[in-house]
Amino acid sequence: MSENTGRGRQTKEYDPAGVQEFFAARAADWDSRFPDDGPAYATAVAELGLRPGAAVLDAGCGTGRALPALRAAVGAGGVVVGADLTAEMLTAAAEAGRGRAGLLVRADVSRLPIRTGSLDAVFAAGLIAHLPQPAENLRELARVVRPGGQLALFHAVGRAALAARHGRPLTPDDLRAEANLRPLLASSGWRMVSYVDEDTRFLALAVRED
Ligand SMILES: C[S@@+](CC[C@H](N)C(=O)[O-])C[C@H]1O[C@@H](n2cnc3c(N)ncnc32)[C@H](O)[C@@H]1O
Repeated sequence: MSENTGRGRQTKEYDPAGVQEFFAARAADWDSRFPDDGPAYATAVAELGLRPGAAVLDAGCGTGRALPALRAAVGAGGVVVGADLTAEMLTAAAEAGRGRAGLLVRADVSRLPIRTGSLDAVFAAGLIAHLPQPAENLRELARVVRPGGQLALFHAVGRAALAARHGRPLTPDDLRAEANLRPLLASSGWRMVSYVDEDTRFLALAVRED
């Protein structure tokens, strides 16, 4: 398991234990590594335009940094679920009080314990580069969202800045490059409706096809 490089092989051997080990080691100080990201998460959530009462999943929620903004968007009558594979991330989320904003669930996004078509939206920050089979896994996210519902793929830093942070070049096979992401989403039940990749954020929005 390596750091989230955003580089895209379409499939790789799935190693959930490796993913958990990688993030378990980083859970305790995850929030303190990125102390200034809060407003960027709030802005990204706002772009989903969630209505009060809506049901939303934070897929790969980690320490739940997006959950307060998601709760604020859907209000007390809405449903907010944060799902993550790594128990230590969920423990850190609970310790940070994020369980007050949403239900924290240990689950693999490749097989979600969520009814088909029951959600209005999925928010996924920093997740896509960790997915073992991106097309299949994005299809699972589409399964749980109603037709017309939304997906936000977010990162609080753009692709070039992330590559620089990791000391690697940005290559054309990057999964999140627009030319790769658009057809990937289309093959997974999503229609990409907007794409922003700038130094301070990456945000791709997609709508669930009928
Ligand atoms: C880069 S972190 C981002 C965490 C959080 N979304 C944030 O923005 O701070 C990626 C998260 O995805 C989780 N994850 C990776 N693969 C997953 C999977 N197949 N199912 C559920 N969670 C997964 C990891 O455990 C980790 O918490």
